[in-house]
Amino acid sequence: MSVNKEVKRVTTHTLQKMKAAGEKISMLTAYDYSFARIIDGAGVEVILVGDSASNVMAGHETTLPITLDQMIYHASSVIRGIERCFVVVDLPFGSYQSNSEIALASAVRIMKETGAHAVKMEGGEEVIDSIKKIVSAGIPVMGHLGLIPQSIYKFGTYEVRAKEEKEADKLRRDALLLQEAGCFAVVLEKIPAELAAEVSANLAIPSIGIGAGNGCDGQVLVMHDMLGINTEFKPRFLRRYLNIHEQATRAVQQYIKDVKSGDFPNLQEQY
Ligand code: KIV
Repeated sequence: MSVNKEVKRVTTHTLQKMKAAGEKISMLTAYDYSFARIIDGAGVEVILVGDSASNVMAGHETTLPITLDQMIYHASSVIRGIERCFVVVDLPFGSYQSNSEIALASAVRIMKETGAHAVKMEGGEEVIDSIKKIVSAGIPVMGHLGLIPQSIYKFGTYEVRAKEEKEADKLRRDALLLQEAGCFAVVLEKIPAELAAEVSANLAIPSIGIGAGNGCDGQVLVMHDMLGINTEFKPRFLRRYLNIHEQATRAVQQYIKDVKSGDFPNLQEQY
């Protein structure tokens, strides 16, 4: 999409100012051009090209199988659909955990090949060297703490994280480490609302919650879940704004009926 000079683009600076002003940040996932256009046009500040594409676009059970090449494909499609959103792309599993050189190389590929504005990485202390390396190359990094789906086989469950004091303390420390390492924001996923509110209040950078209560500086949902494209996933934190699955099923059934009865196409729908 060509750059419209009239449109004020969202930047890390915008997000920082929103936190300072107490204005909540809205973030949604997108994985393709058409939905990115809708979300950008609707006024969301941040689009996350999440590795949840592995689940909702490719039908995998976890986020682990998606590759860097596939994330690049999704992110470059999203970028062609936006005019003003700030676009963050997940570094997929295996593209940053081994060492900071590999992490930087993966982040550089995302930035160069997609035109995205930032990357997101899961974890705290364990990935801090890689975060520092990427930030020092001038690439904005969003952190991600709490339930980190790339570690699902370590956790063994998608239950709420950091309910125990030991894990909550690590999360408090990790959030500050991410801030010191230069992250511009941090996602807090599926942790107690009280802990998320405390961590958010102690951070100068914005927190974006998912299943982390109302005390975060912003919220994120997976687009397929909030639009009801996906109906199997029903966690307590999810608010569903549409039931596209049901509406699309009805539309397709009507189309089949019209084709079979000969009603479609009619005289106005042919040449
Ligand atoms: O991949 C994703 O969609 C995410 C959000 C759930 C935060 O990481």
